[in-house]
Amino acid sequence: MSGAGERSASPAPCTIVILGAAGDLTRRKLLPAIYNLERDGLLPSSYAVMGFARRELDDEAFRAVAREGVASYSRRPAIEATWPEFERNLFYTRGSFDDPEAFVELKRRLDEVEAERGIAGNRVFYLSVPPSAIETCVEQLQVAGLAEAPGGSYARVIVEKPVGRDLESAREINDVVASVFDEEDVFRIDHYLGKETVQSMLVLRFSNSIFEPLWNQKYIDHVQITVAEEEGVGTRGGYYEEAGALRDMVQNHILQLLCLTAMEPPWSLDAEVVRDHKMGVLNCLRPLRGTEVDRHVIRAQYGPGRSGEGDVRGYRREDRVLPESTTETYVAIQAYVDNWRWSGVPFYIRTGKALPKRASEIAIQFKGVPPVLFNANPEMAVAGNVLALRIQPDEGLTLQIATKQPGPNAIISPVDMDFNYGTSFAGQSPEAYERLLLDVVVGDASLFMRRDAVEASWQWVTGILDGWQASGARWLPEYAAGSWGPVEAERMIEAEGRRWRAL
Ligand code: BG6
Repeated sequence: MSGAGERSASPAPCTIVILGAAGDLTRRKLLPAIYNLERDGLLPSSYAVMGFARRELDDEAFRAVAREGVASYSRRPAIEATWPEFERNLFYTRGSFDDPEAFVELKRRLDEVEAERGIAGNRVFYLSVPPSAIETCVEQLQVAGLAEAPGGSYARVIVEKPVGRDLESAREINDVVASVFDEEDVFRIDHYLGKETVQSMLVLRFSNSIFEPLWNQKYIDHVQITVAEEEGVGTRGGYYEEAGALRDMVQNHILQLLCLTAMEPPWSLDAEVVRDHKMGVLNCLRPLRGTEVDRHVIRAQYGPGRSGEGDVRGYRREDRVLPESTTETYVAIQAYVDNWRWSGVPFYIRTGKALPKRASEIAIQFKGVPPVLFNANPEMAVAGNVLALRIQPDEGLTLQIATKQPGPNAIISPVDMDFNYGTSFAGQSPEAYERLLLDVVVGDASLFMRRDAVEASWQWVTGILDGWQASGARWLPEYAAGSWGPVEAERMIEAEGRRWRAL
């Protein structure tokens, strides 16, 4: 990935246009990310940010939104003395996505602001909009002449997840986007790929000679990928009802983690090469269909319980959730990558809301040693090594090895060799959106989803969705909020003589 080297020259002046700028993403992630990029001196010498949404705001009010967003969500607080200089780059145009006149006005304002600042037409359009609005927005951009980039400049578009809700709708969206923008100008964002620890997966694998020779079915028993969230759906019940854990987390973030874990060594860090190699994994994912879905996919919903923040009322009582909802808030999957390297190695995936804590990791469970010497007694089997990459929180990695307890007897215990980003490197890691926005501004697509990958992921996920629909199950297991998920997920992995890791 491009992160292999230093970024040298300052990027060319540009404008970031956020469509849907009144939403939470802008306030919580995008504006704080832009502010931190500015603080780090990584933005072009001249730039502008133009918010566009239906909400009744003007430049001043949008700047106040930014101020509040930075105060609440930025990794660094605003510096009073330099804030006025920063906020002079923020603008807002009010308009509705289905109003062509509003896009004409948007263009007029962009031309005006860019002329003042010497920005020669480079534009990034961030579609922070629901999937149903993507088509309209893209068409309006085209009609208003905003999708064209005059000679030497660029018009790039960032598409937020979810891109569709199944294979068919994803293809439709991709077709519409492709009818207006070239694939090289389309940046489908998956913020997990911007996380520091996720990026370090390839470095871990391909910059250390001790791991890669063992990274295959001969030495690895299985892989566990966990993305656990402590929070419930909070205020996002309306969106989540239509999505569920499979669409919300597995189709994108978790399959990307799986790709980085399982991919073959790319022959270069070029964006296309890395993305081709990730496709190699998606192409080998064993389809789950029919009864396989019942055996290898567990879905469940959180019921009442307790989390760190107190009593949780249960998913069906959350705001904007149907009392009889069958949307899953937890999913566990036993997946296989049917190729030479991974033949027969299960990839156990689990993700859920209202679990006991926020904890995400990729754990490689190596096979045990032969049943001789210290491992001769099946009653006291020596545990196989585990390499766990912690994505969040406490980013780092742990290698679990077997060692002898001090004393006269040969009692073997597992101990952890630990590396922690926070203690090994000074300073905070940038937020995922900082890295990703900067990549779009410099035109590096390595960390973005290519069309074929989005559709291959949907194809696999759609097989599961179809299986659920065919089995017609209206009932789904419940787990108490604050627990580690349903007993069915324990049974699935235990049926194979394995256990979920305790996190
Ligand atoms: C989003 C999902 O993509 O990722 C949310 O829509 C989820 O439901 C979030 O909470 C998790 O992201 P992070 O970075 O907090 O792990």
